[in-house]
Amino acid sequence: MLSFDDDFTPPDQQKTDALAAKPVQPAQPVPQVQPKQQTQQVQQVQHAPEHVMTQAQTLAQPQVAAQATATATPQTPQQVNSISFAPDDAQGSGVTGLETIAFNAKRLRVDDKRIINCRADLNQLVPFKYEWAWKKYMDSCANHWMPQEISMARDIALWKDPNGLTDDERLIVKRNLGFFSTADSLVANNLVLAIYRHITNPECRQYLLRQSFEEAVHTHAYQYVIESLGLDEGEIFNMYREVPVIHDKDAFELQFTQELADPNFQTGTPETDQRFLRNLIGYYGIMEGLFFYVGFVQMLSFGRQNKMTGASEQFQYILRDESMHLNFGVDLINQIKFENPHLWTPEFEKEIVELFDQGLELEYRYAVDTMPRGVLGLNAGMFSEYLRFIANRRMKQIGLPGKYDSAKNPFPWMSEMLDLKKEKNFFETRVIDYQTGGALSWE
Ligand SMILES: [Fe+2]
Ligand SMILES: [Fe+2]
Repeated sequence: MLSFDDDFTPPDQQKTDALAAKPVQPAQPVPQVQPKQQTQQVQQVQHAPEHVMTQAQTLAQPQVAAQATATATPQTPQQVNSISFAPDDAQGSGVTGLETIAFNAKRLRVDDKRIINCRADLNQLVPFKYEWAWKKYMDSCANHWMPQEISMARDIALWKDPNGLTDDERLIVKRNLGFFSTADSLVANNLVLAIYRHITNPECRQYLLRQSFEEAVHTHAYQYVIESLGLDEGEIFNMYREVPVIHDKDAFELQFTQELADPNFQTGTPETDQRFLRNLIGYYGIMEGLFFYVGFVQMLSFGRQNKMTGASEQFQYILRDESMHLNFGVDLINQIKFENPHLWTPEFEKEIVELFDQGLELEYRYAVDTMPRGVLGLNAGMFSEYLRFIANRRMKQIGLPGKYDSAKNPFPWMSEMLDLKKEKNFFETRVIDYQTGGALSWE
């Protein structure tokens, strides 16, 4: 039995998981690098003692230097030369992994590792510090799937039958394909172009690389469904530029990517570290934790009524992946909070709660737009309750107060949808004789 994280993991369990990683060690005595040594290091491109990049070495890279000096808060000499990673050593951005290789430098220590603003070598996956990140990478790989493995034959027949689906049902299918077909590109862009560079930990980067591939699989899945049903591709892929409720959700998310993708952006100050955290919460908590869920419930409801079973199963696999992405994001955010408690100020918390409120409003408008009348046993009012229920869970998972504790889950069956093996006989659509390795040859 493959294991994967349940979207409905209790917050306490999440917290335990997140804090299971080794806490940052107390401050070590800080050997100081003298100015003369710094100059020598830049010229000879060697690592500082304790195998940690110094600011001098970082500045030896022209691009990094330009970015670092553009936004980083001026540092004291002790901070510049620090090779310890005490919780209060929060000033200064981390390395990227592109620094010149320090030949014969002292070996990496696990306690050097930090999620953000780390100055230890990023190209060595081990020794592991954050076992939860590696476990999620392994679990995600064990859940590998591809869209072509799922037969769309019954969906095609139903879609082409003039009496197969109502207009309201067709609207739901098209709107969701419209939203999701571009949404996963936005998520992938955020991973690759915005956050990856600033995550200064190799086991978390390993997960991000796997997640990035999964986002590509999801975009592939939507394209596969759109093509199978013979839908107007221009109409579907342009919905995020032509349908207001879809546009507004994506525009809300894109702001988080844009500010981090600014070439002058660097973490390393409380302000920029908060902006980085805000991006993570905006995507893992609101995009993947809230904006996907009206569509997930709607599309999985088709399958429960034995309609659009192929598309529904595609969404079921995607839901399982997205649940893992969300849980990784929760652990990531909580670990950054743990290592940088000064970032979680009352003002910041208020700002994040307001983001969730905006997200709730945007997603509810999406529910109403996709479902002007009750259909599939669902109606917009049920989503009002459901969205408060899941928003409350997301907020509590990252330590925010439960604003909607009284909200109930009108779709308790959603948690069962994560267990694909249980549902296999229900859908009976999976092609079992595919060849994932058919192109390989050992001759
Ligand atoms: Fe995705
Ligand atoms: Fe995702």
